[in-house]
Amino acid sequence: MEFQPFQYIYKSAGNPAAPTLLLLHGTGGDENDLIELAARFGNQNNLLSLRGNVSEHGMPRFFKRLGMGVFDEEDLKFRTDELVDFVGKIAAQEGFDPKKLVALGYSNGANIAGSTLFMHPGFLGGAILLRPMQPFKVLEPVSGGHVPVFATTGTTDPTIRQSDTKKYMDLLKKSGYAVTHQELQTGHNLTQEDLHLAVAWFHERFK
Ligand code: MLT
Repeated sequence: MEFQPFQYIYKSAGNPAAPTLLLLHGTGGDENDLIELAARFGNQNNLLSLRGNVSEHGMPRFFKRLGMGVFDEEDLKFRTDELVDFVGKIAAQEGFDPKKLVALGYSNGANIAGSTLFMHPGFLGGAILLRPMQPFKVLEPVSGGHVPVFATTGTTDPTIRQSDTKKYMDLLKKSGYAVTHQELQTGHNLTQEDLHLAVAWFHERFK
């Protein structure tokens, strides 16, 4: 199978040194979904927002799944490589600094961002993972993951077990990532608290 291009939106902040938020939507979303949310991070960032290349009964996703929370890991590997290849090309085309790329992913989008952290540890300059799940069932720590990672999970999220989240966060830490994990008293949907915490974390590190 060959890599396909992604549907995307790119908005330049007009400053080549600016960080670029890589927006990755949840299942059934598209490249428009997280634009408003990204505006909460200020207008000094470039935005690159992708639409997942997989369709599940018409719902865009970033990779295939076999059931709820059961991922097609071969497809996930392929789609992660496809995304990294595409984003690298867009960085060259649009002239943003790929070293200042910070993923902002929700749910399915957070999961391909997580897969990128393990498969391509030098690629992202940071990641904000909102309601993430461990992308691969069997996962070993990698080396070279030294960038900051922020994650929020919900204590009543029916899609994610808290003990699995703890293992996943530990794997990120063992890979060298500087992890900030916040557990919120909520479910799978995002709340204002997610945003407040993520924006504060981002401004401390990327301004
Ligand atoms: C996934 O499939 O990536 C997770 O189950 C989250 C979701 O998109 O529902």
